[in-house]
Amino acid sequence: MSDSVLSRFTQEVEEEKVSTGKVFKVGIIGTGWIAEAHIESYLQMDDVEIVAAADLIPGKAEKFMKRYGVEGVRLYPSHKELLDNEKDLDAVSICTYNKTHAECAIYALEKGVNVLLEKPMCVTTEEAVEIMRAEKKSGKLLSIGFQPRGDENMKMIKKIVESGVLGDIYYIQTGGGRRRGIPNSTFIEQKTAGIGAMGDIGCYSLDMVLNAIGYPKPLTVTGYTSNFFGTNPKYNNPEDAKRFDVEDFAAAFVRLEGGIILDFRIAWAMHPDTPGDTIIFGKEGALRIPSTDCWNGSTGGPMKIYHDVAGEPVETVIPVIEAPENDKGLFYKKCRSFLDAIATGGKAPVPSEQILYNQAIIDHIVKSAALGREIEVEIPEI
Ligand SMILES: NC(=O)c1ccc[n+]([C@@H]2O[C@H](COP(=O)([O-])OP(=O)(O)OC[C@H]3O[C@@H](n4cnc5c(N)ncnc54)[C@H](O)[C@@H]3O)[C@@H](O)[C@H]2O)c1
Repeated sequence: MSDSVLSRFTQEVEEEKVSTGKVFKVGIIGTGWIAEAHIESYLQMDDVEIVAAADLIPGKAEKFMKRYGVEGVRLYPSHKELLDNEKDLDAVSICTYNKTHAECAIYALEKGVNVLLEKPMCVTTEEAVEIMRAEKKSGKLLSIGFQPRGDENMKMIKKIVESGVLGDIYYIQTGGGRRRGIPNSTFIEQKTAGIGAMGDIGCYSLDMVLNAIGYPKPLTVTGYTSNFFGTNPKYNNPEDAKRFDVEDFAAAFVRLEGGIILDFRIAWAMHPDTPGDTIIFGKEGALRIPSTDCWNGSTGGPMKIYHDVAGEPVETVIPVIEAPENDKGLFYKKCRSFLDAIATGGKAPVPSEQILYNQAIIDHIVKSAALGREIEVEIPEI
């Protein structure tokens, strides 16, 4: 290939944004597993002061802060007390399980606090709409925690699509999953997670391709969900199998605006090793993105473009872009880009108006699966 073509696929080094000298007073709501990644990122930033934390489980927030040696943090028994009492918070990281994302995010926005909300945005379309109404009314910044957006290989997917080398996109297969990889804790019950594999890893696969093609609106969904593995003590811990009531597998056929078809499948457990790589089909070329064993925020190997050169079908390999040695990681970038957007009055790094469609697809898969037929995607006015 000529240098001019190859140079389209070389990494653009993005300058790390610098802060404006402001000190951000940050609160952490939910001090479970993922809150660790948030606090570890904030603790590397000179311009962040962790002032408050909340968790429903008595003593959990205190233990969490002790573990990180952070002193003087005011501790609360829920998001509500934290937001009622903290008067000069700049931002909160909402790290609660999916089912409480909406109430925590809405309450924080109503109190005039900027929100970094963990993925998935919430559980239903209606909740996503309510969050966006609160966001609009508050004028505050809301960003959804899709840290793979910061990965250079993920950015490359978008660059390739936008370069036009694939031509118009008409069909995408995406998804992935694990042969055996059912989580436990709060991930496997309706009352805390609301959704299973789709909320845990499916939302990433959707974001990877929808972000690349500019997040067209979903129009109709034919969805399927099952949980043959999670509920079976042969494949899951017997105690977890008893309480397992979310999906461990989902598949869907989604029509998107612009005549694009999205074929989606995601698994926490299955007999094959993969439900297939992601492939973006365009009229001039196709891009294959190898699946990862488990979502780690990047691609599972070199991507390949299939296209014709001089009338012959050829393949162009896009080498994996390795993070530089001093890279602070995707969570750091996620938290940093959120704070920088607040400081500069910039746009949310991962805006709700995009993730609304991600959430609507997941929610309509659940609804279509329950009805056993195709349904139209209905999204109330914001
Ligand atoms: N971005 C990622 O890579 C990533 C990875 C794992 C989890 N997550 C997301 O993070 C969220 C949390 O996952 P986790 O593994 O940390 O769960 P977890 O169950 O370990 O922690 C959640 C904590 O939130 C607390 N909580 C719930 N509602 C609350 C409320 N109203 N006020 C205060 N505390 C409340 C719970 O008591 C619990 O301690 C999930 O939505 C999950 O999808 C994101």
